Amino acid sequence: MSDTQGGSSGPQVPGRERGAAEPGLPQAPLVALTPPSLAVPGSAGAPFVAVLPVADLPAGGMVRVSHGDLDLLLASVPAGILAVDDRCPHMAAPLSLGRLEGCIVDCPLHNGRFDLCSGETVRMPTTGGLDANGAPHLPWSPPGSPPKPEPAGLKAEARRLTRVRRLRHYPVRVVDGMIEIAIPLP
Ligand code: FES
Repeated sequence: MSDTQGGSSGPQVPGRERGAAEPGLPQAPLVALTPPSLAVPGSAGAPFVAVLPVADLPAGGMVRVSHGDLDLLLASVPAGILAVDDRCPHMAAPLSLGRLEGCIVDCPLHNGRFDLCSGETVRMPTTGGLDANGAPHLPWSPPGSPPKPEPAGLKAEARRLTRVRRLRHYPVRVVDGMIEIAIPLP
């Protein structure tokens, strides 16, 4: 992996390089299509940067890559490869330490679950807080765990007002066997 390669502008490789299916069976797409509304601001038209050989991202796996001060999560989901910030949309824990099932990743810090494909929160964190639409959610404890004492004062207020935003996508393509991500210029 390199976090300094950049500037490749070659065409997307039309052939498939991973996840080849048996003849006659449908193939999983190489790169996930994501709604433009979920694009990271500034990523449209941003230069693509090569970050990882496609062979180093196992099917169904996640890999953290860094570029400058950006930590990014590459995930191989059934819809293909996608890239988001490697920061939980709740309190910024690295999602790459979580568990990926299909499109859903579990955050290891407060048990939030997030859909990498739709960008939506599937399960709010144990701390509660505001969802992406600003609706409030109460703290909760995982089944079988005793309720945790809630902090008082400003800490409780900070939890209550922390909004879990939708995950945003960085455009991805594969060129000459390398996964490239469009990264907005600073
Ligand atoms: S930091 Fe991920 S759920 Fe809180």
